[in-house]
Amino acid sequence: MSIADCRIVDLPRINDPRGNLTFIEGERHVPFDIKRVYYLYDVPGGEARGGHAHRQLEQLIIAMSGSFDVELDDGSAQKTFTLNRSYYGLYLPRMVWRELTNFSSGSVCTVMASRRYEEEDYYRDYDEFAAAAREGGQ
Ligand code: TYD
Repeated sequence: MSIADCRIVDLPRINDPRGNLTFIEGERHVPFDIKRVYYLYDVPGGEARGGHAHRQLEQLIIAMSGSFDVELDDGSAQKTFTLNRSYYGLYLPRMVWRELTNFSSGSVCTVMASRRYEEEDYYRDYDEFAAAAREGGQ
């Protein structure tokens, strides 16, 4: 997996004068069955979230409200995406280190995940992750 596998997913939009609607179907708009949803909110200004990679987990990250940056690193290359629309999702495959930064006031980050929470799926040490990624491991 590499930075090139991280991509913006343009989610369906049903525009309506009463208010707009977006929906997400597992295995259609995301290439996995959604097993878990979680969200980050009330993030104080200047704080960062993430700072880890996953051995197996795939995710779709959405700025449901406000904006933030997702800084990615596959052990070799780096790329930053800014998310600021509730109809764009950022798909992250397994084995990508991520940091979420620059949260705007009142922003909400919602994450669709391919697996339930498993601490053993995390790399929380960057050097350990980068060495495994360069070897093509997990
Ligand atoms: P973590 O994934 O490190 O947060 P983030 O990457 O969003 O900054 O998780 C923070 C804490 O919350 C950690 O103690 C594990 C717990 N947690 C769960 O229990 N279930 C979950 O689904 C998630 C995402 C985290």
